[in-house]
Amino acid sequence: MQIRPDLVALMDLTKDLAEYRTKPNASVAKTKVPALLPQPVAPRDLISIHDLEPAEILQLFDLTAVLKRKPASFRGLLAGKQMVMFFEKPSLRTRLTFEAGMDSLGGSTFFVDQTASRLNARESLYDIAHNLERWIDIIVLRTFSHAVVEEMATYSSVPVINALSELEHPCQALADFFTLQEHYGDLKRIHFAYVGDGNNMAHSLLLAGASVGAKVSIATPERYPLSPVILTMAKAIAEETKATLRILNDPRKAVAGADAVYTDAWASMGHEAEAEERAAIFAPFQVNAALMQLAKPNALFMHCLPAHRGQEVTDQVIDSVNSVVFDQAENRLHIQKAILVWLLGSSLSRPQIGLNARSAHA
Ligand code: CP
Ligand code: NVA
Repeated sequence: MQIRPDLVALMDLTKDLAEYRTKPNASVAKTKVPALLPQPVAPRDLISIHDLEPAEILQLFDLTAVLKRKPASFRGLLAGKQMVMFFEKPSLRTRLTFEAGMDSLGGSTFFVDQTASRLNARESLYDIAHNLERWIDIIVLRTFSHAVVEEMATYSSVPVINALSELEHPCQALADFFTLQEHYGDLKRIHFAYVGDGNNMAHSLLLAGASVGAKVSIATPERYPLSPVILTMAKAIAEETKATLRILNDPRKAVAGADAVYTDAWASMGHEAEAEERAAIFAPFQVNAALMQLAKPNALFMHCLPAHRGQEVTDQVIDSVNSVVFDQAENRLHIQKAILVWLLGSSLSRPQIGLNARSAHA
């Protein structure tokens, strides 16, 4: 798999910038750095896993691996870039990994706590977008409504990232499949099982699993199925990648022979009032030792967190040696950085890089 040429250029550029900082008179600064800069392209968004071509997902994972291995080489790459985050729902991992990731790349973040009122309650998304694009380089949204993220992307001339909507959580699913690639290598050979609610996580994991060509088994209660729109998208991707998709209602069938078993909250944010009613329906979907026994020996246990111990997963499973929940959480940081570089990298202009390199040296 070839890494996208403009990303190779970015990776090379970081080496040259590092050299420039230590040897500012080196000829590389005058000649090679400008030549390596990728040409600006139209801004792109990450609203859904579907926004990335299957091959691009693997390229993003290559970039993530480099960022994870050599974080210092990318320091300052996004200096001068500014990111705003509007969150209508709480967050630990997503907020902090975006903030820490942007900080380590040299950019700045503004966090707007939007939990008291919806993003478009005070003024229209159209007006908000046309304000933000005048000041800010990238917009990150966590919303109740997926349509809000889509609308912001439609109006905004700067990239928009979905940091969780009721329909998808693409950044998490990318970190999860990157984690699986670290453990298993070739993702086409794995059997990935998800049991639980047909929610945002299930949707993004299904699309990601289809994109990487995995065997994906998903079991939800009949009353809480996957979105038919997402399912149609996933089937179309699977035709291209030769992924196998199995959509079931029996958690035992889904998990049988799996390399990884994933679950998520039974009542997602926004559905807390239904928690009791859902608990009764979801009880057979609990990931416990008996269910894990049906998977392959040493199958991984995965969860996006926060976990509701004793509900969707037992302590015994989440605390077992095969649980990779904290690897997933760690990889949120690395994938977030890769997403930011991916979406902002091609907008790095020559004067800005020169200025950043000089100020970093000063
Ligand atoms: N997994 C995840 O998105 O966690 P937060 O809700 O804490 O961001
Ligand atoms: N499905 C969960 C994911 C949390 C990261 C929710 O939306 O609350």
